[in-house]
Amino acid sequence: MHFPVLLEESTDLLLGNSGKIYVDCTVGAGGHTKRILEKNPEAYVIGIDLDEEALSLAEENLKNYEGRFSLYKANFSQIDEVLEEEGLERVDGFLFDLGVSMMQLKSERGFSFQIDAPLDMRMNKEQKLTAYRVVNEYSERELERIFRDYGEERFSKRIARAIVTKRKKKPIETTSELAQIVWECYPPKLRHGRIHPATKVFQAIRIEVNRELDNLKEALEKTPDLLNPKGRLVVISFHSLEDRIVKNFLRERGDIFKVLTKKTLRPSEEEIKKNPASRSAKLRAAERRA
Ligand SMILES: C[S@@+](CC[C@H](N)C(=O)[O-])C[C@H]1O[C@@H](n2cnc3c(N)ncnc32)[C@H](O)[C@@H]1O
Repeated sequence: MHFPVLLEESTDLLLGNSGKIYVDCTVGAGGHTKRILEKNPEAYVIGIDLDEEALSLAEENLKNYEGRFSLYKANFSQIDEVLEEEGLERVDGFLFDLGVSMMQLKSERGFSFQIDAPLDMRMNKEQKLTAYRVVNEYSERELERIFRDYGEERFSKRIARAIVTKRKKKPIETTSELAQIVWECYPPKLRHGRIHPATKVFQAIRIEVNRELDNLKEALEKTPDLLNPKGRLVVISFHSLEDRIVKNFLRERGDIFKVLTKKTLRPSEEEIKKNPASRSAKLRAAERRA
């Protein structure tokens, strides 16, 4: 089950302009979309996701709201094309709840080192690049860069070297094999910290496989032309690099956007207790100037 993160805060901010048409750019299981439809009986939501399994779940979870939403299998970097298909030029708000869902993490699609599965990590099952290809085909230097830049992993050099050495003997095929390699690269006294040693490497590979940072930049750049005056942009991020992209974008486009969250919003202690996966969430919201 996926607990929608910062549910009340994000939907209040999104709907604060009393608009009608909103885009949930990461519809997932439909948690945020459902809340938007409940809170504003006049709202219509266009839900986008790369993941077909997520879209089927959303369809099921939103069945009481038939006629008030439409779902698209698309990359949110294509929001302009989705709106064109809907016959719309502008909407009243965009919501982004970035990262992976609990369904994806708990699936056998290779997102988590806690579940032994083939190295895959694709949100969109039709794309060619998989975690297997990153791990077995990228150069040592590229691997090191990904682990350092996307994972902020202090042992990136050592881990990249270990991967390249291992794969010379046989391809690295599963999440468990990869997690074991990373584990062995960590000094024994650091193996039992707050997070598992493989956490950052897995996150870094997932960001690379799904081009997460580039997609976010491309989508944000498109929002000014697609928002009505007073249209809202709400972004929940889980990674410091994502949050920096959002922060810089809003700063650079200060001519267009008025920031509504002077400080980022964070989940309450209570929410973190109920849903520990929410602990790193940060929310930023802005309104298009009239
Ligand atoms: C954290 S989940 C969203 C959960 C959702 N808000 C809910 O309440 O059920 C993130 C979702 O975004 C999707 N996603 C990630 N990057 C995407 C992209 N570039 N385009 C479209 N969907 C994307 C993932 O497949 C995943 O289902």
